[in-house]
Amino acid sequence: MRDPFGRPITYLRLAVTDRCNLRCRYCVPEECGPAGGAVLSGEALVEIARQAVLCGVKKIRLTGGEPLVRRDIAALCRSIADLEGLEELCITTNGTALETLAGPLREAGVDRLNVSLDSLRPQRYAALTRGGRLEDVLEGLRAAERAGFTGTKLNVVLLRGVNQDEIPDFVDLTRRFPLEVRFIELMPIGEGARGDFLPAGEVLQQCPDLVPAGSGGVARRYRLPGAPGLTGLITPMSCRFCADCDRIRVTADGMLKPCLHSEREIDLRGLTGEALRQAIASGAAAKPERHYLAETGHSGAGRTMNRIGG
Ligand code: GTP
Ligand code: 5AD
Ligand code: SF4
Repeated sequence: MRDPFGRPITYLRLAVTDRCNLRCRYCVPEECGPAGGAVLSGEALVEIARQAVLCGVKKIRLTGGEPLVRRDIAALCRSIADLEGLEELCITTNGTALETLAGPLREAGVDRLNVSLDSLRPQRYAALTRGGRLEDVLEGLRAAERAGFTGTKLNVVLLRGVNQDEIPDFVDLTRRFPLEVRFIELMPIGEGARGDFLPAGEVLQQCPDLVPAGSGGVARRYRLPGAPGLTGLITPMSCRFCADCDRIRVTADGMLKPCLHSEREIDLRGLTGEALRQAIASGAAAKPERHYLAETGHSGAGRTMNRIGG
């Protein structure tokens, strides 16, 4: 599957819920009630995954909301991991439920985890997430390691004046653990306020010992000399990576989004087999060349991040 700009589309980000047990300040509005709009059944999600793989998708990432709040998450992972032709099944999670779920997810065939963690200080973490417990995430990371997960990445959204002073602490983790710590520029989507934006260049200023180490997905990588881990910079704002875009998304309510930052959505609900494959292919064909965040100052997504899956 190629898009009109010749980019091979091999990566599906599949949101399995719009619910989350945290309420990160920059992601969901404070007064937001419980999400939980219409969400696809496990069967419908597996059918989308199956047809996407037949269309040429090689990697699927389950997103949310928080994917681990779905009760059937392990069974869902097993069904998707079993699809012939799929090379990698990953999950992006806030990590708070990994203590109990890391083992079952690994057994179900999940290959890799990305864990969102924006502060290493308990009180700050609680304030940022409106009630989350840092210790749950740290326990979750330990459980993931025990369960045999490797290549785990930590996602840190850079927030001016909020976690700016923790950059060296996060980078220091890469000295001690074989983790990839990725700093992400805040995008003006949902509650992402412009005043909180901090360019990723700040990381290189605060940690001048970092040396370039190639690229990995949407991140430019760096390494501290001799460190087992990597530091990644994800720069949708200061240096967009759309030219290498390889992804489509499906929201938890069954809409295919050709681009994170475009309003365009293709309804997949009720489709199966050939009709579903055609709709997925039409989604790849509808990909815009790039986003216009820098020019317009806002995302055209028309949804908050928890309702897209990042
Ligand atoms: P890997 O498979 O480990 O490379 O993961 P990933 O970076 O594709 O997924 P993850 O869910 O960890 O995303 C990291 C960050 O990149 C999140 O903040 C996403 O919102 C952001 N991001 C992911 N995909 C896109 C995209 O297509 N465009 C833009 N602008 N940002 C994206
Ligand atoms: N800008 C950048 N990243 C964001 N995320 C959520 N909202 C935003 C935003 N406005 C991140 C989460 C998670 C990933 C899936 O998306 O922190 O790491
Ligand atoms: Fe792809 Fe759109 Fe993300 Fe750019 S903003 S990388 S085109 S999904």
